[in-house]
Amino acid sequence: MHHRLLRTTLCGLLLLTGCATGSPSGPPPPPVADSTSGVGDPLFPLAGNGGYDVSHYGLDLAYDPATRLLRGTARVTARAARALPAFNLDLSGLKVGRVTVDGAGAASSRAGTELTVRPARAVTAGAVFTTVVEYSGVPGTIEDADGSHEGWIRTDDGAVALGEPVGSMTWFPGNNHPSDKAAYDIAVTVPEGLTAVSNGELTGTRTAGGRSTFQWHSAEPMASYLATVAIGKFRVTRSTTPSGLPVYVAVDAREAADAGELRDLPRILEWESGLFGPYPFSSTGAIVDRVDDDTVGYALETQTKPVFPVDRKGTTLDGPTLVHELAHQWFGDSVTPRTWQDMWLNEGFATYAEWLWDEQHGGDSAQKHFDATFQDDASWAFPPADPGTPQNVSEAPVYGRGAMVLHKVRQAVGDARFFALLRGWAAEHRGGSVDSARFTAWCEQRSGVDLSGLFAVWLYGDGRPPAP
Ligand code: TRP
Ligand code: ZN
Repeated sequence: MHHRLLRTTLCGLLLLTGCATGSPSGPPPPPVADSTSGVGDPLFPLAGNGGYDVSHYGLDLAYDPATRLLRGTARVTARAARALPAFNLDLSGLKVGRVTVDGAGAASSRAGTELTVRPARAVTAGAVFTTVVEYSGVPGTIEDADGSHEGWIRTDDGAVALGEPVGSMTWFPGNNHPSDKAAYDIAVTVPEGLTAVSNGELTGTRTAGGRSTFQWHSAEPMASYLATVAIGKFRVTRSTTPSGLPVYVAVDAREAADAGELRDLPRILEWESGLFGPYPFSSTGAIVDRVDDDTVGYALETQTKPVFPVDRKGTTLDGPTLVHELAHQWFGDSVTPRTWQDMWLNEGFATYAEWLWDEQHGGDSAQKHFDATFQDDASWAFPPADPGTPQNVSEAPVYGRGAMVLHKVRQAVGDARFFALLRGWAAEHRGGSVDSARFTAWCEQRSGVDLSGLFAVWLYGDGRPPAP
């Protein structure tokens, strides 16, 4: 099963029942960077927090699938953008215990998904400070506007964490917004016999007293929505790609060991590196995990190891989806939209990667995909750069119409300049944050072609333009 298609189908149904929005077009307003709760995201106003910039998360987690109890210690290192008599972290559910700031006890209070921390003494502007939060409880899931589930997803042998757009706050406190990327060290302790997989590289394991700890390190900056942990019985295959990149693949013990399509992972990565430039992280891999219920029918581009859930209805792992999630490692994971408004910079690019794969592997041309997407009424519900509502971020205009924008740019500047643009975009913004305005200005600057009319129609315009 191809979940983005399921999402699109859902969207189609919702559109029929009147979920279309009359959102205004035009460039998004800049986020309000200084509010304490929320960074002013146009679609998720409470996500993230102003006043500081996290550089590192050190998460120490222990999970017992039998009781579903998670115990965690989060060490959050950040730089204060201004004096902070108080600041917020995002956390959904769970019980907060002791909180310290730079080693001194701090007061804390909860309201909704906001955890407010009041240090004994205000953090001074510009200071780097470390907040330690001890917490525990049974982590929950969040139902998104489109009805799909994210957060801490139970499996019958453990759990898997999915965080797009806001689910990471169900398992650790943090600045839960893509504009604040950070390095992570995630250590997970589980009953002996189970494996805990996370982003980045495995730097240590130890077993004592019937429990095993797995330590994972992500040096490259990561948005919180891309953090994952998968706990359960896995078959792990470690290898290296022809270019020497470590590969860590964890497949649910109940699934075929090679999980079919995953054999193509090195070949797809090599092809994508040829198109998009050097792979942006120190390792790669994938997680295939069987989930209990049928609420998660989508794959997610979790950094370095995309997750492919399997449920009773089928698997999310297929060829196009593997190409898609791996393309996100460049577009979304390494080069990350500053707000959810610009989700098309993720999904439009990953969808276009599917078209290009097809075109270069004996399938339909990108033009043919473009034509089909053009004909599809669902593509025209709203402009890619202005989804307008939270449920719209996973719908057809963000995916297919986003890809159409890239195809139009390709037609306008020609193949040679277009593929140089793709590579340059990934290289120049590697590890960083971007938005639509940056993309359009950058394309024009680099190509020397006036693309303002193109973007006005295809990226910002309402409705279907006349057939090209
Ligand atoms: N990003 C996922 C993909 O490309 C799909 C997805 C999962 C998603 N959760 C989401 C999209 C929440 C928007 C919002 O396969
Ligand atoms: Zn995607």
